[in-house]
Amino acid sequence: MANPAASTISPARRDTPDLPWWKTTVIYQIYPRSFKDSNGDGIGDLRGIISKLNYFVYLGVETLWLSPFFTSPQADFGYDISDYKDVDPIFGTMEDFRELVKQCKLRGLRILLDFVCNHTSDRHEWFQKSLRKQGKYKDYYVWTDGKVLPDALFSYHQVSVFGGSAWEWCEERQQFYYHAFLAEQPDLNFRNPDVVEEMSLVMKYWLDLGVDGFRMDAVANLFESEDIFQDNPPSGKDVPPVSHWEYLKPVHNFYVLPECRDLLVHWQNVLDKEKQIDGKERFMVQEFYTDSDTRAAMAEYGAHAFNMDLVEELTVPLSATQMMGLIAKEYTDRPESYWPTFVVGNHDKARPATKYGPRYVDAFNMLLMTLKGTPTIYYGDELGMQDSSVAYEEAQDPFGIKIGPERYALFGRDPCRTPMQWTSETQAGFTTSRKPWLPVGKDHEQRNVQSQKKDEKSHLNLLKEYVALRSKDAFKYGDIGLDCVLNKNVLAFLRFFGSERYLVAINFGQESSTDDHRGGPVAVATGTVVANTGAVSDDLAKGRTIDLSSLTLRPGDGLVIQL
Ligand code: NOJ
Repeated sequence: MANPAASTISPARRDTPDLPWWKTTVIYQIYPRSFKDSNGDGIGDLRGIISKLNYFVYLGVETLWLSPFFTSPQADFGYDISDYKDVDPIFGTMEDFRELVKQCKLRGLRILLDFVCNHTSDRHEWFQKSLRKQGKYKDYYVWTDGKVLPDALFSYHQVSVFGGSAWEWCEERQQFYYHAFLAEQPDLNFRNPDVVEEMSLVMKYWLDLGVDGFRMDAVANLFESEDIFQDNPPSGKDVPPVSHWEYLKPVHNFYVLPECRDLLVHWQNVLDKEKQIDGKERFMVQEFYTDSDTRAAMAEYGAHAFNMDLVEELTVPLSATQMMGLIAKEYTDRPESYWPTFVVGNHDKARPATKYGPRYVDAFNMLLMTLKGTPTIYYGDELGMQDSSVAYEEAQDPFGIKIGPERYALFGRDPCRTPMQWTSETQAGFTTSRKPWLPVGKDHEQRNVQSQKKDEKSHLNLLKEYVALRSKDAFKYGDIGLDCVLNKNVLAFLRFFGSERYLVAINFGQESSTDDHRGGPVAVATGTVVANTGAVSDDLAKGRTIDLSSLTLRPGDGLVIQL
């Protein structure tokens, strides 16, 4: 006999898969120092974030990734933690954090914390005990008697990611310690089971306080090969001087397998155990600049790494063919457990509006929100915020300072970390202080949340529309069809589920392009515009019927067309 309940389910919805929340969410990265200052000291804080939670409700994003706000001497602005279980006074208190969780839950918002697992601060109690060889802490870090030869800059182990030696001499212990990043960020020794346990307890601590998961910092640096004095071969990259990280190919201490794999599996188990207790799914996403094949191999053992291809790999001026080449890999011959996680900007890289040009702001936001996968958007990119020019003399970023005035403009991370532009007021509504920790963008009088909220075609309101599309079955559950128009200017793809079908077509090139979009999986002659980029001509306005046999898109134009 037919199940009577089944007949009440509409055919279109009957087969909707039961996806975990992190597959249907949008992640928004908050850099707490720069988001909103509540106490007038010029630095953003947790109370500031709490005061802006309704902004996320407005945007429709549900998951917040917070860069570190834990106790830290701030040598690398919080990526150097001296107490993993407390909030730095700059950012507030544990009470503020509890309030943040409570207020997020009231609004249906989720929180991912930054789990800085590779290294601690050199001021961390563990390191202080380790340098004195105290008890179990003796081997918490990577120590060696080593012989760091003066000409050993050609050896990987003398080069840190931030440039210069990766070994620091410790007078007290009469040994060198290894630091993949700054000397103030000694690497933890994950070959020591006590360290693994200690960090798992940190994870558990925050999970118990109600967070939904973690963005895992620098996971490729977690292990060094056991024989740490093996030399790495030159990378062949043209990156003088030789003290630069990329001068060598870090085969001996970057993503060392199987150690990395086992540790990531272990941490995934910590999250899964929580789920067994309360039934709530947790999510962990790895910070790892790598290729699609490595991400696929990681997915085989349950790890999801951010896809940084759109951050790191695109040549400028943009080529739609190159972009689609990178995008298509995400959907071709991937393991079943693979899940794409696109990113366009973050706190370490130039902003897309600056790197690729302002005319492509909506185009990137449209792409990010309509591709199959979980997108992460960096604060301010919804406004088309630009990198601000920060003079080397005013530089704050330790990497930028270390790299020197000639190359600061190329590598310094201050320009992409300037305060969020809320209003047209003097300090962009970010702080009441006269001196924010970084200067506010010069364009904040025109480019800010307050003014963009009022403009239907602003980057902000367009992003809001793209986010809203994700509640439609085709974008939420649907597959992606890539066999659509592709040339050096235009890329197009289809999102579909049941009878719902949408064509996304975007011009990332330098020239206008007129194309026939009827081929491949599209197979119809017309469609209706449901979303567009801000500068399209009137004949591509929302609600217009489009002749797909001859669609002209200018550089930066993008359309979502319901078929
Ligand atoms: C990656 C983070 O994104 C970056 O900001 C930080 O400096 C390094 N990891 C070291 O933690």
